[in-house]
Amino acid sequence: MSERLFIFDTTLRDGEQVPGCQLTTIEKLEVAKSLEALGVDVIEAGFPISSPGDFKSVEEISKVVTSPIVCALTRGIEKDIDVAYEALHFAKRKRIHTGIGTSDLHIRYKFNSNREEILERAIAATKYAKKYVEDVEFYCEDAGRTDNEYLARVVEAVIKAGATVVNIPDTTGYCLPDEFGAKIKYLFDHVDGIHKAVISTHCHNDLGMATANTLAGVMNGARQVEVTINGVGERAGNTALEEVVMALRCRKELNIDTAIDTKHIYHTSRIVSNLMNMPIQMNKAVVGRNAFAHSSGIHQDGVLKNLRTYEIMDPKDIGIDDNMIVLTARSGRAALRHRLGTLGYEVTNEQLDDLYNKFLVLADQKKEVLDDDIRMLMGKGGGEKAVEVISLQVVSGKNINHEADLVLSVHGVTKEAKAFGNGPVDAAINALKAILQEKMTLCEFTIQSISKGSNDVGKVHMQVEHNGKVYFGFGANTDIVEASLEAYVDAVNKFM
Ligand code: KIV
Ligand code: ZN
Repeated sequence: MSERLFIFDTTLRDGEQVPGCQLTTIEKLEVAKSLEALGVDVIEAGFPISSPGDFKSVEEISKVVTSPIVCALTRGIEKDIDVAYEALHFAKRKRIHTGIGTSDLHIRYKFNSNREEILERAIAATKYAKKYVEDVEFYCEDAGRTDNEYLARVVEAVIKAGATVVNIPDTTGYCLPDEFGAKIKYLFDHVDGIHKAVISTHCHNDLGMATANTLAGVMNGARQVEVTINGVGERAGNTALEEVVMALRCRKELNIDTAIDTKHIYHTSRIVSNLMNMPIQMNKAVVGRNAFAHSSGIHQDGVLKNLRTYEIMDPKDIGIDDNMIVLTARSGRAALRHRLGTLGYEVTNEQLDDLYNKFLVLADQKKEVLDDDIRMLMGKGGGEKAVEVISLQVVSGKNINHEADLVLSVHGVTKEAKAFGNGPVDAAINALKAILQEKMTLCEFTIQSISKGSNDVGKVHMQVEHNGKVYFGFGANTDIVEASLEAYVDAVNKFM
């Protein structure tokens, strides 16, 4: 039986500190409910004294969340702790997370103080929080750069004062994995009573080592990890929940596991990305669009024979329906035959040889060979799209109604509509819906630029839901309204 690792999710507190990614209370509730379904043990819901909005979010999350502990952050200051307790009033299981900077840099420059005084303040804050709640977590801010001997004194003192969890943050993402692991081990070797508390890691990703440092902490005795979905967080972010959880699932020999229901990972990742307007890096571990996309022929052949040849995780385990084989010039016959099969075509070996040669010629001209291209190769007129944009004219600007005039060719018949929307993209999509009269919902929409200039091409990725199935669409244009419409039409053409 594996040992249990507690997952403390701080997407809604540390993760939400990213400029431009702030969530409304309603959005935070949606994230909190997803985190609960995912099975996290603790939700850090906010820093109540920091703003009335944060206070309200902690209060509302406390009302809706039932199984995870709801945690509120404070500085080691009585007023902060009073306000945190008030915000947690409705929580079924509450935790106060208080603390202070313990590195010499923080002690000297942030507090203009000395080690002894900070030690006293740490004890006082823990005892004060303890008057309100049984479950008190103490953080030693900048523990990554704190002298181990002094850190051990602080940890021992706050455990004696009643801390149930002690958090060892690498606040600046400075540590190397060996060093961080050794720090946790040092605490286990030198702190009297350490087993009365859970030791927690909280690693930042400034040097890209957050997950490695977190796992080093776990291997040396930490039994709580502080993480965020997609690794969101200030600067380079926090440790990504999905990376730690899947590392432990993949490496069962470590005998440490979490209570996360991994089938909810992908969905939660999408919710956070969409609500925070933070696109996920394509090659992001576990949840990136390319995490399970194979393009080399050798890999595709292997994956089709047995997933485990080139995949250490089954995409289904994180809630993705299938692995994605991307057809490119490097794809082999096996991948082409597989795709033909999913499109409903049975071919003989001779036909496949002939088709494969044509496929390679096309693949040399295009980055990716799409389903329509394959249909075209099969001579079924797949080159003709069911829906094609003939013209689009939009009116947009400040303080005017956004309007779109759209002309489409639908199965060869010209149709047009005019529609309004809350922006030019919305107006164009509304015009498209008015023409097609299909029930469809846009579930994901990301716009990315290629370089930085205002003359850049905008790349749009969309996911459109139709009859319970999700279809991907892509568009690229210097006009982002046109790129968006192209992406929507691309998705629509997958089902029409
Ligand atoms: O990074 C950090 O040190 C923190 C603490 C406030 C827990 O976020
Ligand atoms: Zn942090």
